[in-house]
Amino acid sequence: MKFNRRQFLRWMGVGAISAYCGFLTSCDGDGEDSPVFAQKYPLQLPSSQGGLFGYFRPQGAFSISVVPYSFSLLPGAKTPGMAYLVQDGGKTYINPIFVVSQGGQVSVTMQNSLSEKTIIHWHGLLLDWLQDGHPYYSVSPQGSYSYSFSVPNRSGLYFYHPHPHGRTGYQVYHGLTGLFLVEDADELNLRSQLQLTLGETDIPLVLQDRNFNPDNTFLYNPLGPNGNMGVWGEVPLVNFTPWPYLEVRRRIYRFRILNGANARPYRLVLLRGNQRQPFYLIGVEGGLLDRPYQVDEILLAPAERADILVDFRNFQVGEVVRLYNLAHNLVPSNMNPVVNSEFEVLEFRVTQDDTYTATLPTTLSSLGSLNTANATLVSLPLGVSQGVFTIGGQQWDSTNPLKDYGLNFNQGQVVIFEFTNATGMYHPMHLHGPTFQVLRRRNSPQVISNLARVLNDGTGRMVTDLGWKDTVIVAPSETVQIAMQMQNPGSSSPQYYLLHCHILEHHDSGMMIQYTVT
Ligand code: C2O
Ligand code: CU
Ligand code: CU
Repeated sequence: MKFNRRQFLRWMGVGAISAYCGFLTSCDGDGEDSPVFAQKYPLQLPSSQGGLFGYFRPQGAFSISVVPYSFSLLPGAKTPGMAYLVQDGGKTYINPIFVVSQGGQVSVTMQNSLSEKTIIHWHGLLLDWLQDGHPYYSVSPQGSYSYSFSVPNRSGLYFYHPHPHGRTGYQVYHGLTGLFLVEDADELNLRSQLQLTLGETDIPLVLQDRNFNPDNTFLYNPLGPNGNMGVWGEVPLVNFTPWPYLEVRRRIYRFRILNGANARPYRLVLLRGNQRQPFYLIGVEGGLLDRPYQVDEILLAPAERADILVDFRNFQVGEVVRLYNLAHNLVPSNMNPVVNSEFEVLEFRVTQDDTYTATLPTTLSSLGSLNTANATLVSLPLGVSQGVFTIGGQQWDSTNPLKDYGLNFNQGQVVIFEFTNATGMYHPMHLHGPTFQVLRRRNSPQVISNLARVLNDGTGRMVTDLGWKDTVIVAPSETVQIAMQMQNPGSSSPQYYLLHCHILEHHDSGMMIQYTVT
């Protein structure tokens, strides 16, 4: 059995549902789309003392166990799931946030204590494929896998999650996601300029959505025939906190947002009452942008990251500001309304003044750009065959994990991938290996073309398309070009790198191929 929102509210002890509509167009006034909850919960803040999402700076070899674990999510019974567990120096970390300097070494052994196969993928890092968590290396129960790599990436918010073929969506949904922060000189410079402190004024936010059974167990219920529309939750979680709030002071805060949902894109605005407020985008998946970009909305697909600054000096003590998710229309509208639901993601309560005087930096980092003059163009239409989405007409062959999909490149080669989406549903396309740059969008739906007006540079790109990326939204009917330079960071050839949709149920069902680099 599954709760609809009204039943859920009743169960949460909310008598009267008051509508919070603001300017939201799809709000029909019955409060169904826009709940105000009597009860909100303090946001789980990452801490250096361990615990859920605790910060962990690896020193030497350590181990990470993948274990059955019960989370305290809703009032009452705990929710059984799965977690990454690290014990170090008397502290216990659940889904630790690894903090590593650029060039730093990570030597970790994964112990699989689940009753099913798993493997860890370090999403966004450029690693030898033997370190990358290819599903070929999924580990059986009681087995282990040892990783040892140094981190070549720019500073930024990366993350890690399971990648066993066919079970990624299920395992992530049940709790397996952790963050990986890389630091370099630009990052430390920004942090000191803005006087940011990890876990206090520099806060990672993992956005997820979940459904629960009445006994508080997770309800994993992907929509569509064979679940091919992915799982869409009615309960918003941030850092595993349902309906969270955060008390803030009048100063600049930094939020590093991961869309950790299985299928849902977040279309995020910051609201005071029903008025949009400006905020600043300073980074994406592959780290800082060249400078801050003022925005009043961002669209973030699963696996995308947005590094943002919010200046709470614009508000008075006692005010409430809301991070809010709007309808996106990137999925057929005859699907369950849960796919387009609008809801509050996080409430900020401005509770204290501050003597803070820092101002926004004018520059952040230098990005460099790829020379695409002699690039190889590869067209990859996104289609559907017998209910399974396809990439360039192909699907993952789980009987042959090292299959040749005809995408074989050389070290140093610059490749432009062109995705054209003929499926009627959006797909966030992700590539393992090097990060890429988004070149242009054509034929975009309104939600994207509106956002492209901020840059207005003729490429059709949104600000979240700038910088170095590892995941790109491809909306229904859109054509999107990205460029990347192939690299072989390992000692063996070829390197095998996955290319897949990051709607987890899509890649579990076969919307995944791979390319090689020699
Ligand atoms: Cu985050 Cu292959 O994925
Ligand atoms: Cu990845
Ligand atoms: Cu997809």
